[in-house]
Amino acid sequence: MAVVTLIPGDGIGVEIIESVKEIFKAANAPIEWEEQLAGKTALEKHGELLPKSLLDSIERNKIALKGPVETPVGGGFKSINVTLRQIFDLYQNVRPCKNTVGINTRFNDVDLVLFRENTEGLYSGLFLYDERLQIVDSVSRISMKGCLRIVKAAFEYAKTHQRKRVTVVHKANILKKSGGMMLEAAQIAAKDYPDVTWNDKIIDNMCMQLVTKPEQFDVLVTSNLFGDILSDLCAGLVGGLGVVAGANIGDDVAIFEAVHGTAPDIAGKGIANPTAVLRSAILMLEYMGQKEVAKRIDNAIDKTLAVKELCTGDLGGKAGTKEFTQNVIKNLE
Ligand code: NAI
Repeated sequence: MAVVTLIPGDGIGVEIIESVKEIFKAANAPIEWEEQLAGKTALEKHGELLPKSLLDSIERNKIALKGPVETPVGGGFKSINVTLRQIFDLYQNVRPCKNTVGINTRFNDVDLVLFRENTEGLYSGLFLYDERLQIVDSVSRISMKGCLRIVKAAFEYAKTHQRKRVTVVHKANILKKSGGMMLEAAQIAAKDYPDVTWNDKIIDNMCMQLVTKPEQFDVLVTSNLFGDILSDLCAGLVGGLGVVAGANIGDDVAIFEAVHGTAPDIAGKGIANPTAVLRSAILMLEYMGQKEVAKRIDNAIDKTLAVKELCTGDLGGKAGTKEFTQNVIKNLE
């Protein structure tokens, strides 16, 4: 049994994480959960958003599954997600986006995986503010080390998952140095992956191509800011943030999480859709080498989502979170 840090989080977090626990138990997934608080719930109970016991637990177990958390607005509170990425150097943000039968979208053959650099660029938090002139200069810090490790992660994924092609997304035509470094890193990394073909696209063209012919893409890799925007765009191609998985991965630690928020408008009503956090938990099982049980749960979710009445309200169904969970369990083979 592997021990995993479990962070239910705030709002609908508790309800959707309960669904994961029940389905994993029914599927005999070999996971022992170590529950920890984070966010508003932790602030109320322990007086801090990220208690030391939580950080120690992640450090010890190396793997965590996280529900959405609320970072209070203002008051000097720093985003919990950004803080966790920095503390554990989780430089890869991985977002698989694939169409599912039963979730109607404009396209039906999207199957891509986006690798977003998670620690650098405009999110480095470095800026100069001239109060007199009312001018701010935000620093987009990019390092060759940072570019190389994210590009290598994308190539490695393509190689080990029999993917056809890696596309590097950048703006090197205008941002000559900061935008060009990712491209330079790809040229270096590609030498170690002779069997993986790759190309590059400029971000503006990429957006247009993704919303017109997304099926042509396979593995994408890009910088922090472009990746932040593209990851939601790609989620939109396959049904939105309520159904896609997310992972933040470093060399030592990985945190898997639903990418949607705490949904305060429906929290406590028992109607939240647990699909996104379930898909994230499946990514976690794959990462841990538990591919068989991951596939069983994934198939059960696919089977459930294919029948509208078995789904939650946001997908046009009639089921609450608990009924949806039972429907997935019934579909476990
Ligand atoms: P949100 O994602 O919580 O909600 C947007 C809309 O989507 C709402 O109508 C909500 O009901 C719906 N929705 C979201 N997840 C759903 C689910 N699983 N099932 C059914 N409907 C779902 O975004 P919002 O309102 O901007 O943020 C609310 C709070 O969440 C904020 O405090 C924000 O800071 C936090 N947040 C946390 C994130 C995280 O921890 N990863 C990510 C995004 C926001």
